[in-house]
Amino acid sequence: MIAEGMEAGGHIGHTTTMALVPQVCDAVDIPVVAAGGIADGRGLCAALMLGAQGVQMGTAFLVAKEAQVHENYKNRVIKAKDIDTVITGLSTGHPVRCLRNDMTKAYLKLEQEGAPFEELEQLTLGTLRKAVIDGDVTNGTVMAGQIAGMIKEPKTCEEIITQLVAQADRLWEQR
Ligand SMILES: Cc1cc2nc3c(=O)[nH]c(=O)nc-3n(C[C@H](O)[C@H](O)[C@H](O)COP(=O)(O)O)c2cc1C
Repeated sequence: MIAEGMEAGGHIGHTTTMALVPQVCDAVDIPVVAAGGIADGRGLCAALMLGAQGVQMGTAFLVAKEAQVHENYKNRVIKAKDIDTVITGLSTGHPVRCLRNDMTKAYLKLEQEGAPFEELEQLTLGTLRKAVIDGDVTNGTVMAGQIAGMIKEPKTCEEIITQLVAQADRLWEQR
């Protein structure tokens, strides 16, 4: 079972990884994978301490050299700071965490004005493709999590995983 906190990129819930993971671990008898806000060995160790058996990462892999994501999207993630994500769709019950841009500004304004679901939906139709494929990071939906602020360079998937595990091993031995 994957327990994903609201720090994550994309469609999210309302509970943080820190609060959610131990509660899910207590509630089920199957292995739990923690997700949301994890991108290095510190995050992996923290997740293990919370009772998870492993982690799932999304935002960290957006900038992977192998990822079929437009360079503009990758650069936007790399430039992001800790406070650069916003949540759209809270009022409609479909919250999505993405990086702030003209699209999210327009969406949040409409949402605040109480625009109907259909109008909000219309604004986001095809916008993930716009960002991922066309590289339009101004009008597209740039889904990414809060940990984007910690991601500073593109790496291969192998580098992401081996560095994460090596750091976690070091920390685990020092504990
Ligand atoms: C661009 C993007 C697209 C995602 N799409 C999906 C999806 O289609 N289905 C899903 O279950 N999770 C999706 N996720 C969530 C990831 O599977 C993962 O749980 C999450 O990214 C972990 O949190 P992190 O972004 O802080 O690493 C997506 C995440 C991102 C960043």
